[in-house]
Amino acid sequence: MSAAASSRVQDHYASSGIAGRILAALRAKGGDAGPITPDALAPLDHFHGRGLKATQEMASLLQPSSGERILDIGGGIGGPARWVAARFGCHVTSLDLTPEFCRAAEELNAATGLSDRVRVVEGSATDLPFEENEFDRAYSENVAMNIEDKRRFYAEALRVLRPGAVFAFSHYGAGPRGEPDYPLPWAAGPATSFLSSPEETRDQVLAAGFEILIFRDKTEEVLPDLRENRRRLHDHGLPPLGLQTLMGERIREHQINVARSAEEGRLSVIEALVRKPA
Ligand SMILES: C[S@@+](CC[C@H](N)C(=O)[O-])C[C@H]1O[C@@H](n2cnc3c(N)ncnc32)[C@H](O)[C@@H]1O
Repeated sequence: MSAAASSRVQDHYASSGIAGRILAALRAKGGDAGPITPDALAPLDHFHGRGLKATQEMASLLQPSSGERILDIGGGIGGPARWVAARFGCHVTSLDLTPEFCRAAEELNAATGLSDRVRVVEGSATDLPFEENEFDRAYSENVAMNIEDKRRFYAEALRVLRPGAVFAFSHYGAGPRGEPDYPLPWAAGPATSFLSSPEETRDQVLAAGFEILIFRDKTEEVLPDLRENRRRLHDHGLPPLGLQTLMGERIREHQINVARSAEEGRLSVIEALVRKPA
């Protein structure tokens, strides 16, 4: 990935003081009393439209076990990594391209007492700074849309997994009926959005050397959630606790565009569980 392409992606996501804003929003909503847990943070730190529910669906595919070394590719501010580490008792490495997101992830790890179970690494999914066979499982949620070089994305995931280990991923892909509306949560415009169709994605995964265990075009299944989210955003605006703390109020338009584009066949939702041959 060129430096210019990386910096265009980072510019879309970066802002300063992310963890401070998130912790302040949580306190303002719930008072000072409650502990800061991965569940309490979930409306603010799972950066995908369907929130914690999407991470739970991914985890039910991944089935992590206690003590395993798990890699989250494009872990954002670490919400999914903290939730997986706390729920399954494993060690999660959250790798992300955006420095401000990595700093926020570290601060939120400290606030939840999970710094010893969630490691944050700054780097690119297409050039992972890890050894071969280093991880027992890997996952990636809503990251591939920012990655132009899909061949390297899947090849790098394969390289760092031990033989026989699985990789679960879910992300938006191209739909059959043309281009989505921009801006979207992952990109202000097409210059940083790289959408493959479900069929192309399947081919990319196989070309990298993975075996496919589960591969779903999940678009129809998630449409009711996306439609309901669009209706709420239209009728009531942003919820009191939500991704606006991370991304600003522009997230409302982003999420409406996701839902409308998916409803009209201009985005798909892809979910898969693939395995590195033993
Ligand atoms: C929509 S967010 C999803 C974050 C996280 N997976 C989650 O679900 O909460 C996309 C993330 O991908 C990261 N990203 C984009 N391109 C990347 C790359 N080449 N390598 C690593 N991370 C990348 C961004 O910095 C951002 O944190």
